[in-house]
Amino acid sequence: MEVKRYTNNTIAEIELPRPFDGHGHPRRDELLRLVGPMMAKRFASGIVMPNTKPPITSRLVASEYRDDILHSTDHRFSPLMTLYLTDTLDPAELNEMRTWGIYGVKYYPKGLTTNSDSGVFSPSSLWTPGTNAFNVLRKLAEEGGVLLLHAADGFDKNNNELDPYDQEPHFIRESLPRVKDAHPDLKISVEHLSTAVGAEFMFKNGGYKLGCSITLHHLTKDRRDVFRGGFRPHLMWWPIIQPAEHKEAIQALAIADKRFVWLGTDSAPHPVSSKRADCCMGGVLTHHMALEGYVEAFEDLGALDDRFERFASINGPKFFGFPPSIKTITLVREDWTVKNSYLTEGLQEEIIPFRYGETMRWKIQD
Ligand code: NCD
Ligand code: ZN
Repeated sequence: MEVKRYTNNTIAEIELPRPFDGHGHPRRDELLRLVGPMMAKRFASGIVMPNTKPPITSRLVASEYRDDILHSTDHRFSPLMTLYLTDTLDPAELNEMRTWGIYGVKYYPKGLTTNSDSGVFSPSSLWTPGTNAFNVLRKLAEEGGVLLLHAADGFDKNNNELDPYDQEPHFIRESLPRVKDAHPDLKISVEHLSTAVGAEFMFKNGGYKLGCSITLHHLTKDRRDVFRGGFRPHLMWWPIIQPAEHKEAIQALAIADKRFVWLGTDSAPHPVSSKRADCCMGGVLTHHMALEGYVEAFEDLGALDDRFERFASINGPKFFGFPPSIKTITLVREDWTVKNSYLTEGLQEEIIPFRYGETMRWKIQD
């Protein structure tokens, strides 16, 4: 990473290969038209989540969605597509997946997050031979694709409903080892790692076959922020933002310079009526400031150096099996204020972005 400093040694400017977003929800139609330029401004490429309405369950639909994203980003962003793992996804959809621009399959536990109704009913089908999910994962390993895990369980082995704060730890302890053992050749990415249990598992087991993405919100926010003065719907994501000790464990993992850890925003915009609602939807827009926020976070952690470049631009592409961008991006130390909301032509409702109204101290040089 190229760094320019002021005479007092404070970093004034950084230049790095254009980053990769390991996990994004650019949505479709009007929302995509809002989000596309935000992604293209910050990222060379990114993994696109398939939980649209309806979900992306065939390579034909994936390639139509890919075209829409290319159009919305003026071809300045490479969308790396994923298919939604359902109990009926046809393994043949993965034939020569890379030639269709498909890099992986996303596992959603049924009902545990936004648009997850089509998700896999029973997590055990991931490791039980003969199930449809098992056959898809076999095929995925053969094709060299990645299994992306929404690493959460809804129930324990006695069928008791889990506390939301325990969903990820339970999956990491009980389900992930079984998935790994059942599919030793499969590359697995644990998405939006959010707990100390997850971080410890990664330190022990991360490598060429197992990695994880880290969001900006799990890196910088904790449960105190979510409930300060009352519930803050614009800090509500799945997986849920954990108590501070988990955030600290995620921070330690992010700056530990491990090749199996990379940036993944989980930017997930929802119209304001879905956030200020009886049942607040999980997910918030971060594509409007994500890279600037990660730079700030790494600086606050004393790690704004080559570790940041590897986290943001190198590790993800290497894991997914393509070269890092040869283009660069420059960020300068300059204050700017996040908008309170976005409302563009065609959007029926406002989108309230992450850190609305707050001052950012890093800016992308146009
Ligand atoms: C995501 C969404 O809104 O699509 N929401 C979220 O809270 N992260 C779904 C997801 O990635 O789980
Ligand atoms: Zn997501």
